[in-house]
Amino acid sequence: MGPKSLQSRGFLIPRGAVPFDSDLAATIIGRFASIPGGLLPALHEIRKTFGYVPRAAIALVAQGFNITEAEAFGVASFYHDFRLERPAGRRVLRLCRAEACQAVGADALAAHAKDRLRLDWHGTTADGEWSLEPVFCLGLCACGPAAMLDGEVHGRLDDDGLDELIGR
Ligand code: FES
Repeated sequence: MGPKSLQSRGFLIPRGAVPFDSDLAATIIGRFASIPGGLLPALHEIRKTFGYVPRAAIALVAQGFNITEAEAFGVASFYHDFRLERPAGRRVLRLCRAEACQAVGADALAAHAKDRLRLDWHGTTADGEWSLEPVFCLGLCACGPAAMLDGEVHGRLDDDGLDELIGR
């Protein structure tokens, strides 16, 4: 599916992602298929490359890793990070929901972010600009509440810091 058909259906290609291409997906899968434990890295690379994990890629993953499509889908759908339905927004804000961050105000920060972006978890704004995702630990546990914006981590966020981060 090319970028035009995605956009005509109201989907926007996230920043840095390219339209799905089965040859490219097969090449990615081929890089990981012979590595023990290569399934998750392959899915991550597919998500990073295309902005989500299309159903067509699941079939190729199953083929490449010699597992059933149901097994490949089971793994992909288990992890929140692997969007299966549609590309995320151009900017993706991930807020840590794990214990250490919760102990220092992650719930209040999440409520503020939802209010600012007018989104719930896994939501994308109508203009395709923002997606809001929960994440379970960003490795910044001593500097919570922690967030990741467009792949970059930020710590000790309060409401003002978050507003500054998202420019709203
Ligand atoms: S608990 Fe939030 S970064 Fe680890």
